[in-house]
Amino acid sequence: MLVKEKILHGFDTAESRWARFGPYYAMFPVDFAFDVVEKYSKEGDFIIDPFAGRCSSIFAGGVLGRNSLGIEINPVGWLYGTVKLSPAKKDDVIDRLLEIYGKRDAFQDMALGMPEFYHICYCNEVLRFLLSARTYLDWENNNIDATLMSIILIYLHGKIGEGLSNQMRMTKSMGMNYSVNWWKNNNMAVPPEINPCEFLIKKIDWRYAKGLPQVCDSKVLFGDSSVQLVDIARRSIENNIKFSLLFTSPPYCAVTNYHADQWLRLWMLGGSDSPKAIQDKHKGRFANKQEYYELLDNVFGLCSKMMAKKSTIYVRTDKREFTFKSTLEILQKRFPKHNVQIVEKPLTELSKTQTKLFGDKSMKPGEVDIILTR
Ligand SMILES: C[S@@+](CC[C@H](N)C(=O)[O-])C[C@H]1O[C@@H](n2cnc3c(N)ncnc32)[C@H](O)[C@@H]1O
Repeated sequence: MLVKEKILHGFDTAESRWARFGPYYAMFPVDFAFDVVEKYSKEGDFIIDPFAGRCSSIFAGGVLGRNSLGIEINPVGWLYGTVKLSPAKKDDVIDRLLEIYGKRDAFQDMALGMPEFYHICYCNEVLRFLLSARTYLDWENNNIDATLMSIILIYLHGKIGEGLSNQMRMTKSMGMNYSVNWWKNNNMAVPPEINPCEFLIKKIDWRYAKGLPQVCDSKVLFGDSSVQLVDIARRSIENNIKFSLLFTSPPYCAVTNYHADQWLRLWMLGGSDSPKAIQDKHKGRFANKQEYYELLDNVFGLCSKMMAKKSTIYVRTDKREFTFKSTLEILQKRFPKHNVQIVEKPLTELSKTQTKLFGDKSMKPGEVDIILTR
Protein backbone atom coordinates (compact mmCIF):
# COMPACT_ATOMS: atom_id res chain seq x y z
CA MET A 1 0.00 0.00 0.00
CA LEU A 2 1.30 3.49 -0.82
CA VAL A 3 2.14 5.73 2.14
CA LYS A 4 -0.53 8.09 0.83
CA GLU A 5 -3.23 5.45 1.09
CA LYS A 6 -2.36 4.64 4.68
CA ILE A 7 -2.37 8.29 5.59
CA LEU A 8 -5.53 9.38 3.82
CA HIS A 9 -7.72 6.31 4.20
CA GLY A 10 -11.15 7.92 3.76
CA PHE A 11 -11.81 10.18 6.72
CA ASP A 12 -10.31 7.69 9.19
CA THR A 13 -7.16 9.61 10.03
CA ALA A 14 -6.41 13.06 11.39
CA GLU A 15 -4.40 13.82 8.24
CA SER A 16 -7.32 13.04 5.93
CA ARG A 17 -9.73 15.22 7.94
CA TRP A 18 -7.35 18.19 7.95
CA ALA A 19 -6.17 17.66 4.35
CA ARG A 20 -9.63 18.55 3.10
CA PHE A 21 -9.89 21.62 5.34
CA GLY A 22 -11.28 24.65 3.49
CA PRO A 23 -13.38 24.78 0.33
CA TYR A 24 -11.45 26.79 -2.23
CA TYR A 25 -11.84 27.80 -5.82
CA ALA A 26 -9.76 25.69 -8.26
CA MET A 27 -8.33 23.48 -5.54
CA PHE A 28 -6.16 20.41 -6.16
CA PRO A 29 -7.79 17.09 -5.40
CA VAL A 30 -6.05 15.95 -2.20
CA ASP A 31 -5.05 12.56 -3.65
CA PHE A 32 -3.38 14.22 -6.59
CA ALA A 33 -1.31 16.45 -4.27
CA PHE A 34 -0.09 13.40 -2.31
CA ASP A 35 0.65 11.46 -5.54
CA VAL A 36 2.85 14.21 -6.99
CA VAL A 37 4.77 14.75 -3.75
CA GLU A 38 5.32 11.01 -3.30
CA LYS A 39 6.43 10.46 -6.88
CA TYR A 40 8.70 13.46 -7.37
CA SER A 41 10.40 13.96 -3.99
CA LYS A 42 11.72 12.05 -1.02
CA GLU A 43 11.72 12.54 2.74
CA GLY A 44 13.84 15.48 3.88
CA ASP A 45 13.58 17.29 0.53
CA PHE A 46 12.48 20.91 0.21
CA ILE A 47 9.28 21.71 -1.69
CA ILE A 48 7.87 25.07 -2.74
CA ASP A 49 4.44 26.22 -3.98
CA PRO A 50 4.35 29.97 -4.81
CA PHE A 51 0.57 29.95 -5.57
CA ALA A 52 -0.47 27.73 -2.71
CA GLY A 53 -4.27 28.25 -2.54
CA ARG A 54 -5.63 26.16 0.32
CA CYS A 55 -2.17 24.53 0.55
CA SER A 56 -2.83 20.91 -0.39
CA SER A 57 0.65 20.66 -1.92
CA ILE A 58 2.31 22.01 1.22
CA PHE A 59 0.19 19.89 3.53
CA ALA A 60 0.94 16.72 1.53
CA GLY A 61 4.64 17.64 1.59
CA GLY A 62 4.63 18.25 5.34
CA VAL A 63 2.73 15.05 6.12
CA LEU A 64 5.09 13.03 3.89
CA GLY A 65 8.17 14.40 5.68
CA ARG A 66 9.26 17.07 3.20
CA ASN A 67 10.14 20.61 4.35
CA SER A 68 7.48 22.54 2.52
CA LEU A 69 7.01 26.24 1.90
CA GLY A 70 3.93 27.90 0.40
CA ILE A 71 3.06 31.50 -0.47
CA GLU A 72 -0.52 32.70 -0.91
CA ILE A 73 -1.84 36.20 -1.49
CA ASN A 74 -5.49 35.52 -0.68
CA PRO A 75 -6.10 35.59 3.09
CA VAL A 76 -8.80 32.91 2.80
CA GLY A 77 -6.44 30.37 1.20
CA TRP A 78 -3.59 31.39 3.48
CA LEU A 79 -5.71 30.93 6.60
CA TYR A 80 -6.91 27.45 5.58
CA GLY A 81 -3.33 26.49 4.81
CA THR A 82 -1.70 27.88 7.89
CA VAL A 83 -4.32 26.30 10.17
CA LYS A 84 -4.24 22.85 8.58
CA LEU A 85 -0.46 22.74 9.02
CA SER A 86 -0.80 23.52 12.71
CA PRO A 87 -4.32 23.63 14.18
CA ALA A 88 -4.77 24.98 17.72
CA LYS A 89 -5.89 22.63 20.52
CA LYS A 90 -9.57 21.77 20.40
CA ASP A 91 -10.38 22.92 23.97
CA ASP A 92 -8.78 26.30 23.35
CA VAL A 93 -10.80 26.75 20.16
CA ILE A 94 -14.06 25.87 21.92
CA ASP A 95 -13.29 28.20 24.86
CA ARG A 96 -12.65 31.02 22.42
CA LEU A 97 -15.85 30.24 20.53
CA LEU A 98 -17.86 30.48 23.76
CA GLU A 99 -16.18 33.75 24.63
CA ILE A 100 -16.93 35.30 21.22
CA TYR A 101 -20.51 33.98 21.28
CA GLY A 102 -20.98 35.48 24.76
CA LYS A 103 -20.26 38.95 23.38
CA ARG A 104 -22.83 38.84 20.57
CA ASP A 105 -25.50 40.99 22.23
CA ALA A 106 -23.30 44.08 21.99
CA PHE A 107 -23.60 43.82 18.19
CA GLN A 108 -27.37 44.24 17.84
CA ASP A 109 -27.17 47.85 16.59
CA MET A 110 -24.37 47.04 14.19
CA ALA A 111 -26.39 44.09 12.87
CA LEU A 112 -29.44 46.29 12.26
CA GLY A 113 -27.33 48.67 10.17
CA MET A 114 -26.10 45.96 7.78
CA PRO A 115 -27.34 45.84 4.14
CA GLU A 116 -30.43 43.74 3.34
CA PHE A 117 -28.29 40.92 1.94
CA TYR A 118 -26.99 40.07 5.41
CA HIS A 119 -30.48 39.89 6.95
CA ILE A 120 -31.64 37.37 4.37
CA CYS A 121 -28.40 35.42 4.43
CA TYR A 122 -28.19 35.08 8.23
CA CYS A 123 -30.64 34.97 11.12
CA ASN A 124 -30.07 37.72 13.69
CA GLU A 125 -28.37 35.35 16.17
CA VAL A 126 -25.82 34.26 13.55
CA LEU A 127 -25.25 37.79 12.26
CA ARG A 128 -24.51 39.15 15.76
CA PHE A 129 -22.13 36.24 16.38
CA LEU A 130 -20.33 36.84 13.06
CA LEU A 131 -19.93 40.54 13.83
CA SER A 132 -18.49 39.67 17.24
CA ALA A 133 -16.03 37.17 15.70
CA ARG A 134 -15.10 39.63 12.97
CA THR A 135 -14.35 42.28 15.59
CA TYR A 136 -12.44 40.23 18.15
CA LEU A 137 -10.62 37.39 16.37
CA ASP A 138 -6.98 38.27 15.76
CA TRP A 139 -6.65 35.67 12.99
CA GLU A 140 -3.40 37.02 11.53
CA ASN A 141 -1.40 36.76 14.74
CA ASN A 142 -2.99 34.23 17.07
CA ASN A 143 -3.21 30.53 16.26
CA ILE A 144 -6.34 29.85 18.35
CA ASP A 145 -8.14 32.78 16.71
CA ALA A 146 -6.88 31.70 13.26
CA THR A 147 -8.23 28.18 13.82
CA LEU A 148 -11.63 29.39 14.98
CA MET A 149 -11.86 31.95 12.19
CA SER A 150 -11.00 29.40 9.51
CA ILE A 151 -13.68 27.04 10.83
CA ILE A 152 -16.20 29.89 10.70
CA LEU A 153 -15.08 30.66 7.13
CA ILE A 154 -15.67 27.09 5.97
CA TYR A 155 -19.27 27.17 7.17
CA LEU A 156 -19.94 30.84 6.36
CA HIS A 157 -22.05 29.82 3.40
CA GLY A 158 -23.30 26.59 1.92
CA LYS A 159 -26.43 24.58 1.25
CA ILE A 160 -29.16 24.96 3.86
CA GLY A 161 -28.29 22.84 6.87
CA GLU A 162 -24.64 22.55 5.89
CA GLY A 163 -23.59 26.10 6.74
CA LEU A 164 -24.53 29.14 8.80
CA SER A 165 -26.29 30.85 5.89
CA ASN A 166 -29.39 30.75 3.82
CA GLN A 167 -29.03 28.64 0.63
CA MET A 168 -25.76 29.49 -1.18
CA ARG A 169 -22.88 27.74 -2.89
CA MET A 170 -20.05 26.73 -0.63
CA THR A 171 -17.04 27.31 -2.90
CA LYS A 172 -18.00 30.71 -4.26
CA SER A 173 -19.78 33.73 -2.74
CA MET A 174 -22.54 34.87 -5.07
CA GLY A 175 -23.20 38.59 -5.72
CA MET A 176 -25.35 40.58 -3.31
CA ASN A 177 -28.19 41.56 -5.63
CA TYR A 178 -28.15 38.21 -7.37
CA SER A 179 -28.52 36.44 -4.02
CA VAL A 180 -31.25 38.70 -2.67
CA ASN A 181 -33.30 38.31 -5.87
CA TRP A 182 -32.75 34.58 -5.93
CA TRP A 183 -33.86 34.11 -2.32
CA LYS A 184 -36.95 36.26 -2.88
CA ASN A 185 -37.90 34.54 -6.13
CA ASN A 186 -37.52 31.14 -4.51
CA ASN A 187 -39.54 31.95 -1.39
CA MET A 188 -36.45 31.80 0.76
CA ALA A 189 -36.33 35.37 2.02
CA VAL A 190 -36.29 34.19 5.64
CA PRO A 191 -32.95 32.77 6.75
CA PRO A 192 -32.79 29.52 8.72
CA GLU A 193 -32.71 29.86 12.53
CA ILE A 194 -29.37 28.47 13.68
CA ASN A 195 -27.54 28.53 16.98
CA PRO A 196 -24.01 29.22 15.67
CA CYS A 197 -22.33 27.99 18.83
CA GLU A 198 -24.01 24.56 18.84
CA PHE A 199 -23.58 24.28 15.07
CA LEU A 200 -19.84 25.02 15.18
CA ILE A 201 -19.14 22.79 18.18
CA LYS A 202 -20.50 19.82 16.20
CA LYS A 203 -18.23 20.70 13.29
CA ILE A 204 -15.21 21.13 15.60
CA ASP A 205 -15.95 17.75 17.24
CA TRP A 206 -15.92 16.05 13.84
CA ARG A 207 -12.76 17.76 12.63
CA TYR A 208 -10.78 16.90 15.78
CA ALA A 209 -12.24 13.41 16.29
CA LYS A 210 -9.09 11.68 14.97
CA GLY A 211 -6.67 14.14 16.55
CA LEU A 212 -4.17 16.55 15.06
CA PRO A 213 -2.21 15.93 11.84
CA GLN A 214 1.48 15.06 12.06
CA VAL A 215 3.24 17.59 9.83
CA CYS A 216 7.00 18.15 9.58
CA ASP A 217 8.59 21.59 9.37
CA SER A 218 6.35 23.42 6.85
CA LYS A 219 4.73 26.79 6.55
CA VAL A 220 2.80 29.13 4.30
CA LEU A 221 3.57 32.83 4.00
CA PHE A 222 0.88 35.42 3.48
CA GLY A 223 1.64 37.77 0.59
CA ASP A 224 2.62 38.30 -3.02
CA SER A 225 5.10 35.65 -4.11
CA SER A 226 6.80 38.02 -6.56
CA VAL A 227 7.74 40.10 -3.50
CA GLN A 228 8.26 37.37 -0.87
CA LEU A 229 10.45 35.24 -3.13
CA VAL A 230 13.12 37.92 -3.44
CA ASP A 231 14.08 37.42 0.20
CA ILE A 232 13.43 33.67 0.21
CA ALA A 233 15.70 33.18 -2.84
CA ARG A 234 18.44 35.28 -1.24
CA ARG A 235 18.31 33.29 2.02
CA SER A 236 18.15 29.97 0.24
CA ILE A 237 21.30 30.87 -1.74
CA GLU A 238 23.09 32.12 1.42
CA ASN A 239 22.24 28.93 3.32
CA ASN A 240 22.81 26.65 0.35
CA ILE A 241 19.29 25.24 0.53
CA LYS A 242 18.11 23.76 -2.74
CA PHE A 243 14.50 22.89 -3.43
CA SER A 244 13.88 19.62 -5.23
CA LEU A 245 10.23 20.07 -6.16
CA LEU A 246 8.33 23.14 -7.34
CA PHE A 247 4.71 22.05 -7.31
CA THR A 248 2.05 24.60 -8.07
CA SER A 249 -1.00 25.73 -9.96
CA PRO A 250 -0.82 29.41 -10.93
CA PRO A 251 -3.89 31.60 -11.40
CA TYR A 252 -5.59 31.13 -14.78
CA CYS A 253 -5.51 34.24 -16.95
CA ALA A 254 -8.86 36.02 -17.27
CA VAL A 255 -10.77 33.08 -15.84
CA THR A 256 -11.35 34.00 -12.25
CA ASN A 257 -10.69 36.53 -9.62
CA TYR A 258 -9.82 34.71 -6.42
CA HIS A 259 -10.74 37.72 -4.32
CA ALA A 260 -14.12 38.58 -5.84
CA ASP A 261 -15.21 34.94 -5.71
CA GLN A 262 -14.58 34.88 -1.98
CA TRP A 263 -15.94 38.32 -1.16
CA LEU A 264 -18.16 37.20 1.75
CA ARG A 265 -15.32 35.33 3.43
CA LEU A 266 -13.09 38.36 2.85
CA TRP A 267 -15.75 40.54 4.52
CA MET A 268 -15.57 38.17 7.49
CA LEU A 269 -11.82 38.79 7.63
CA GLY A 270 -12.39 42.54 7.90
CA GLY A 271 -12.93 43.50 4.24
CA SER A 272 -15.66 45.60 2.64
CA ASP A 273 -19.29 44.56 3.21
CA SER A 274 -19.91 44.78 -0.55
CA PRO A 275 -18.26 42.72 -3.33
CA LYS A 276 -17.79 45.72 -5.66
CA ALA A 277 -14.82 47.27 -3.85
CA ILE A 278 -12.96 43.96 -3.81
CA GLN A 279 -13.43 43.32 -7.51
CA ASP A 280 -11.77 46.50 -8.64
CA LYS A 281 -8.79 46.23 -6.34
CA HIS A 282 -7.59 42.79 -7.38
CA LYS A 283 -8.70 42.26 -10.96
CA GLY A 284 -5.52 43.59 -12.63
CA ARG A 285 -3.00 40.85 -12.80
CA PHE A 286 -5.27 37.97 -13.74
CA ALA A 287 -7.31 39.90 -16.31
CA ASN A 288 -4.52 41.77 -18.08
CA LYS A 289 -2.40 39.49 -20.30
CA GLN A 290 0.81 41.46 -20.02
CA GLU A 291 0.66 41.75 -16.24
CA TYR A 292 -0.26 38.10 -15.96
CA TYR A 293 2.73 37.09 -18.07
CA GLU A 294 5.06 39.28 -16.01
CA LEU A 295 3.78 37.82 -12.75
CA LEU A 296 4.44 34.24 -13.86
CA ASP A 297 7.79 35.13 -15.40
CA ASN A 298 8.90 36.92 -12.26
CA VAL A 299 7.77 34.18 -9.88
CA PHE A 300 9.18 31.24 -11.86
CA GLY A 301 12.37 33.26 -12.46
CA LEU A 302 12.88 33.77 -8.72
CA CYS A 303 12.06 30.11 -8.01
CA SER A 304 14.61 28.96 -10.60
CA LYS A 305 17.41 30.45 -8.47
CA MET A 306 16.53 28.12 -5.58
CA MET A 307 15.95 24.85 -7.39
CA ALA A 308 18.40 21.94 -7.31
CA LYS A 309 19.96 20.89 -10.62
CA LYS A 310 17.97 17.67 -10.69
CA SER A 311 14.74 19.24 -9.53
CA THR A 312 11.20 18.63 -10.77
CA ILE A 313 8.85 21.44 -11.71
CA TYR A 314 5.24 20.27 -11.68
CA VAL A 315 2.69 22.84 -12.85
CA ARG A 316 -1.00 22.19 -13.29
CA THR A 317 -2.68 24.85 -15.36
CA ASP A 318 -5.55 25.76 -17.64
CA LYS A 319 -5.67 24.28 -21.15
CA ARG A 320 -6.82 27.54 -22.71
CA GLU A 321 -4.35 28.94 -25.17
CA PHE A 322 -2.93 32.04 -23.54
CA THR A 323 -2.45 30.63 -20.06
CA PHE A 324 -1.01 27.35 -21.34
CA LYS A 325 1.33 28.82 -23.95
CA SER A 326 2.63 31.57 -21.66
CA THR A 327 3.25 29.16 -18.80
CA LEU A 328 5.06 26.69 -21.03
CA GLU A 329 7.18 29.39 -22.65
CA ILE A 330 8.17 30.88 -19.28
CA LEU A 331 9.01 27.50 -17.75
CA GLN A 332 11.19 26.54 -20.72
CA LYS A 333 12.96 29.88 -20.52
CA ARG A 334 13.54 29.64 -16.76
CA PHE A 335 14.52 25.94 -16.72
CA PRO A 336 16.27 25.55 -20.10
CA LYS A 337 18.08 22.30 -19.27
CA HIS A 338 15.01 20.42 -18.05
CA ASN A 339 13.04 18.01 -20.23
CA VAL A 340 9.40 18.87 -20.71
CA GLN A 341 6.48 16.49 -20.55
CA ILE A 342 2.91 17.61 -21.13
CA VAL A 343 0.11 15.50 -19.76
CA GLU A 344 -3.43 16.21 -20.80
CA LYS A 345 -5.89 14.46 -18.56
CA PRO A 346 -7.66 11.50 -20.09
CA LEU A 347 -11.42 11.98 -20.33
CA THR A 348 -12.11 9.52 -17.51
CA GLU A 349 -10.28 11.80 -15.13
CA LEU A 350 -12.12 14.91 -16.16
CA SER A 351 -14.69 14.60 -13.42
CA LYS A 352 -11.91 15.13 -10.91
CA THR A 353 -10.43 18.26 -12.47
CA GLN A 354 -10.25 21.51 -10.64
CA THR A 355 -12.69 23.17 -13.03
CA LYS A 356 -15.21 20.40 -12.55
CA LEU A 357 -14.83 20.42 -8.81
CA PHE A 358 -15.56 24.05 -8.92
CA GLY A 359 -18.48 23.39 -11.19
CA ASP A 360 -18.55 26.48 -13.37
CA LYS A 361 -20.24 25.71 -16.68
CA SER A 362 -18.68 28.76 -18.31
CA MET A 363 -15.27 27.12 -18.13
CA LYS A 364 -14.18 24.59 -20.69
CA PRO A 365 -13.26 21.55 -18.70
CA GLY A 366 -9.64 20.81 -18.68
CA GLU A 367 -6.35 21.37 -17.07
CA VAL A 368 -3.01 20.27 -18.29
CA ASP A 369 0.08 19.25 -16.36
CA ILE A 370 3.47 20.60 -17.45
CA ILE A 371 6.21 18.50 -15.88
CA LEU A 372 9.89 19.45 -16.16
CA THR A 373 12.52 16.96 -15.04
CA ARG A 374 16.24 16.34 -15.49
C1 LIG B 1 -5.16 27.88 -9.10
S1 LIG B 1 -5.10 28.60 -7.51
C2 LIG B 1 -4.15 27.45 -6.59
C3 LIG B 1 -5.03 26.39 -5.97
C4 LIG B 1 -4.25 25.42 -5.13
N1 LIG B 1 -3.46 24.53 -5.97
C5 LIG B 1 -5.17 24.62 -4.21
O1 LIG B 1 -5.17 23.39 -4.27
O2 LIG B 1 -5.90 25.25 -3.42
C6 LIG B 1 -3.97 29.94 -7.70
C7 LIG B 1 -3.70 30.70 -6.41
O3 LIG B 1 -2.68 31.67 -6.64
C8 LIG B 1 -2.93 32.75 -5.77
N2 LIG B 1 -2.13 33.92 -6.23
C9 LIG B 1 -2.38 34.70 -7.30
N3 LIG B 1 -1.43 35.65 -7.42
C10 LIG B 1 -0.56 35.45 -6.41
C11 LIG B 1 0.63 36.09 -6.01
N4 LIG B 1 1.11 37.15 -6.67
N5 LIG B 1 1.29 35.63 -4.94
C12 LIG B 1 0.80 34.55 -4.25
N6 LIG B 1 -0.33 33.90 -4.58
C13 LIG B 1 -1.01 34.33 -5.64
C14 LIG B 1 -4.43 32.93 -5.85
O4 LIG B 1 -4.93 33.68 -4.75
C15 LIG B 1 -4.89 31.48 -5.85
O5 LIG B 1 -5.17 31.04 -4.55
